[in-house]
Amino acid sequence: MKKKVILITGATSGLGKETARVLAKQGNTIIIHGRNKDKTQSVVRELKKDTSNSQIDMLLADLESFADIKRMADEFKKKYNHLDVLINNAGNQYGGTREVTLEGHERTLTINTFAPFLLTHLLLYSLSKSGEGRVVTVSSASHAQGGAPYLNDIELKDHYSYMKAYGISKLYVIWLMRHFEKYCRENGIKNITFNCAHPGSAKTNLGNTGNRPISMKILFFLWQPLMTSVEKGAKPIIFAATADEMKEKNNQYIGPKGYEKVNEKYYSEKNEEILWNYCMKICEPYMEQRKYTNNC
Ligand SMILES: NC(=O)c1ccc[n+]([C@@H]2O[C@H](COP(=O)([O-])OP(=O)(O)OC[C@H]3O[C@@H](n4cnc5c(N)ncnc54)[C@H](OP(=O)(O)O)[C@@H]3O)[C@@H](O)[C@H]2O)c1
Repeated sequence: MKKKVILITGATSGLGKETARVLAKQGNTIIIHGRNKDKTQSVVRELKKDTSNSQIDMLLADLESFADIKRMADEFKKKYNHLDVLINNAGNQYGGTREVTLEGHERTLTINTFAPFLLTHLLLYSLSKSGEGRVVTVSSASHAQGGAPYLNDIELKDHYSYMKAYGISKLYVIWLMRHFEKYCRENGIKNITFNCAHPGSAKTNLGNTGNRPISMKILFFLWQPLMTSVEKGAKPIIFAATADEMKEKNNQYIGPKGYEKVNEKYYSEKNEEILWNYCMKICEPYMEQRKYTNNC
C-alpha cells in the first residue's frame, strides 16, 4: 500500500493508540490527535520509539468544543496539503445526568456524533485531494441499544439517560456517515469513502473519566472477563482504514466478524435528513463556505 497521511482522533489511549501504532509500523505518516498536551507528546515519543517511524505528528483539540475542532482543522490544513485517511475514533461516555459542553451541547452527543460530523466536514477538501480519501468512524454495537431516537429532541433535553445518550450517539454517527457519501456525490466531491467500524468490547479506558451510574459500574465490572484486547478491538478499524478491498466501498459497518449489519429499526432517509440538517445548523458558524468543483 502507498504510504498514507492518517489523522486519528483520540489516539492517546485504547483503540486509537493501538491503531496509530499499527499504522505507524506500516510506515505511514500518523497524526495523533489528543486533548492533553503532555499525554499526547508522551504517546508520540512512545510510538516513534516503538515503531521506528519518525513521521508521527500531533494535533491538540478538545472535541467538546466546535471552536477548537475548527482551530485544529485549520492547523492541519496549514501543515498538510492532503489527508488520505481520517479516523474518527475519539469517543466517550458520561454520567447518569445530562451535562452540556461550554458551548451548550449535550456532552455525549458532542464527542461521539457532532465532533466527527464537524471534523469530517472541515477536512473534506483535504480528503478529496488524496485521490483515495477514506473516512472511518468508530461506532459501537451499542448503536442498537439506545432505543428509539427523538428527532425533535436530538440533544435529549427531555429524554436523557446514560445508555440512550451513548447508544443514540453511535447510531446517529452511522447515519451521518451515510449522508456524507450522498453529500459528496451531490457536491461533486469525488474519491472519498465513508465507513464505520466497531471493536466489539475491548479493555480500554472508555467511560472511566465520566461519572457512570452505579448500575453501569457493576455491569462493566461483571463484563470485564468477556472483553477482548485492544489489539483485537483495533483490527476492524485498521481493516476499514487500509484494506485494499475497502477501496471503493461505502456504507460498510466493519466489526470483529467482518462486514456486519447495522440495526436499521429506526432508520429512514427522512430521519437521516433531519439529523443532518440539525448538525448543519449547530455547526454552521464553524463551517467553511467552500464551493467544490467536479475535479476536487
Ligand atoms: N472499548 C470498547 O469496548 C468500545 C466499544 C465500542 C465502541 N468503542 C469506541 O471506540 C472509540 C475509542 O474508545 P476506547 O475504547 O479506545 O476508549 P479510550 O481508551 O477512553 O480512548 C478514547 C479516546 O478519546 C479521547 N477523548 C475522549 N473525550 C475527548 C474529548 N472531549 N476531546 C478529545 N478527545 C477525547 C481520549 O482522550 P484521553 O486519552 O485524553 O482520555 C482517548 O484518546 C470510542 O469512539 C468508543 O466509543 C469502544
